[in-house]
Amino acid sequence: MRRKLVVGNWKMHGSRPVNAQLLSALVGARPYGCDVAVCVPFPYLSETAVALTGSDLRWGSQDCSAHEQGAFTGEVSAGMLAEFGCRYAIVGHSERRQFHQEGDQLVADKAKAALGKGVTPIVCVGETLAQREAGDTEAVVKRQLSAVIHTLAHCAGEMVVAYEPVWAIGTGRTATPEQAQAVHALLRAQLLAATPRASEMKILYGGSVKPDNAATLFSQVDIDGGLIGGASLKAADFIAICRAAG
Ligand code: 13P
Repeated sequence: MRRKLVVGNWKMHGSRPVNAQLLSALVGARPYGCDVAVCVPFPYLSETAVALTGSDLRWGSQDCSAHEQGAFTGEVSAGMLAEFGCRYAIVGHSERRQFHQEGDQLVADKAKAALGKGVTPIVCVGETLAQREAGDTEAVVKRQLSAVIHTLAHCAGEMVVAYEPVWAIGTGRTATPEQAQAVHALLRAQLLAATPRASEMKILYGGSVKPDNAATLFSQVDIDGGLIGGASLKAADFIAICRAAG
């Protein structure tokens, strides 16, 4: 039985006082019965680490450079994330792919850089609405995952995968549990062909997860938790989603 994982992706939201309140509410609502983490903007990593140290809550970043160090203005390396106690780094989020032109190989290189420093990459895959309507969902997510599997090679079993259909992100239009499970099953089969650890690996669902739809999504056999955007900014909603996974 895989233990569920719920990760809040704060995206570019927050402020020091708002974060302090949110983090203290999350700490105060333990235990959850599942693993819980928040992926925060880089400048807030330090205070997030202070707020969560001593609890079983984890934290991470929303991106990670593919490079170890050097003249890469604006980038943050996996080694730096490790220094701040990051357990996770989201890589390949559709907003990075869309707004920063990140391609499959760059995403794979970022995942490898994270793992190299002991930071677990949460690798996001997912199709756009046009790709779904064209019947290309399977081909798109397979291609995205395959680049990471090949690059990580024998370490592929150490990543977390997140299926986030782009059309469901921030739209209030959630994939049905059946739609999500169908893609998760494909991803699991692809992982099974690549690594003996596939049956233990976590595949999260992300895209308009809310307290009222979380339990049915999480009850699907290959859905091992969620990557939560908007609802992770409201303590009561995020806590309710974590409870639905526990
Ligand atoms: P929403 O939960 O706001 O749809 O965002 C999902 C997401 O992109 C998480 O990474």
